[in-house]
Amino acid sequence: MTFLRVLRGSVWSEIRRAQGLRRPYSVHPQETHQAADRFFTAFLIYGASVSRVLILSAVCFFYICTGIASSFSSSFGIALDIDGVVLRGSTPIDGSSQALRRLYASDGTTHFEVSFLFLTNGEGGTPESKRASELSRLLEVDISPLQVVQGHSPFKGLVSRFENDLIVAIGKGEPAEVMSEYGFKKVLSMDEYVSYFGDIDPLSQYKTWEVKQISKSITNSKPPDSVPRYNAHRSRVQAAFIVSDPVDWGRDIQVLCDILGSGGLPGEENGAQPSLFFAADDLEYPAAFCRERLGMGAFRLALECIFNRISRNPLQYTSFGKPNPFVFKNAEAILKQLRSRICSNFQNENAFTTLYMIGDNPSVDIIGTEKAGRPWFSILTRTGLFRGEGNHSQFPADLVVDTVEEAIDYILRREGACGAGVKWRM
Ligand code: G3P
Ligand code: MG
Repeated sequence: MTFLRVLRGSVWSEIRRAQGLRRPYSVHPQETHQAADRFFTAFLIYGASVSRVLILSAVCFFYICTGIASSFSSSFGIALDIDGVVLRGSTPIDGSSQALRRLYASDGTTHFEVSFLFLTNGEGGTPESKRASELSRLLEVDISPLQVVQGHSPFKGLVSRFENDLIVAIGKGEPAEVMSEYGFKKVLSMDEYVSYFGDIDPLSQYKTWEVKQISKSITNSKPPDSVPRYNAHRSRVQAAFIVSDPVDWGRDIQVLCDILGSGGLPGEENGAQPSLFFAADDLEYPAAFCRERLGMGAFRLALECIFNRISRNPLQYTSFGKPNPFVFKNAEAILKQLRSRICSNFQNENAFTTLYMIGDNPSVDIIGTEKAGRPWFSILTRTGLFRGEGNHSQFPADLVVDTVEEAIDYILRREGACGAGVKWRM
């Protein structure tokens, strides 16, 4: 009996150690007790042979520890908004870096132990890989490209439709590079496209900045390899993608009206409107300035209003980004992939019990979470667009907190986090 008591004690300490290393919360304590009791019943029944006992011990121990890890990583996931929750412009909001660190193993900032990703409508014009590196630097934790879902990320799903068609990519940063990286073969940025049509922007002479030109290189006898070998005068644009916030609104609205109203070739007779996609539809967003700034939704309104006044047919378009429920479905699928990185033996089809969305914009983050339905749960912070005392009156969140730190704290408590592996404040 003494031998059994000692063995029982050492198995228990192994379980605790495993909890500390792999996961601080995992299963409910009662479940762990029950699992251990099952182990000892089996142990006594098969106790006749020492070798059988040892084999059984190893199998049961593996079963219990695997159960602990699976149970933990299967239960929940987190989607974090960026602007107004973890960053303001490119400055981390107080406490956001510390909050994120709590999702990683206690021995560093490289292995996340909670399935989480960033679900942002903004920061576009940057490929996910590059944005992941920037976020890692700013927030001082390791972020993988898979954990960065930007407003334009769903454009990848349109490659099969427009792979070999001429498309125009609009916005700050490197919109054409983003689309090429997704697999589109004939992409021109708006700057490049405009340079094919000499007088298309009657105000260009008053602009003091330089834009990337491509038409001059095209007319060279031997264009460099990086220059695409197609001519915008001959091909109709099949789709325009607003990848990130447009920089030169006046020019972009003018040229989009030309492209969309002419059937894809400015100056030509009217044709069917090419497809038009927006990465997001945020009217405003919190940036470095003390008041909100106009976002892509404001640009869309301006374009739509003007286009509808000058053309026979109303503007047709699709907006991605939150609050589109597709974005939340996509995020759930990615969170499952991330979960399998933490716990490789977990079945992808197993549903999450709860998926938390932490955001600052009631009309985007909270309404989107609401539309997505269960298992999504919305948490509204007071660090960005929303600054109200109580809940938002029109789009109330499931929970309102002051900061992302408080949000993470709430989630970890609610999920029963405890133990030595992570710095929980219980
Ligand atoms: O352009 C709007 C964008 O910056 C919002 O980003 O992270 O709040 O979804 P986010
Ligand atoms: Mg935001």
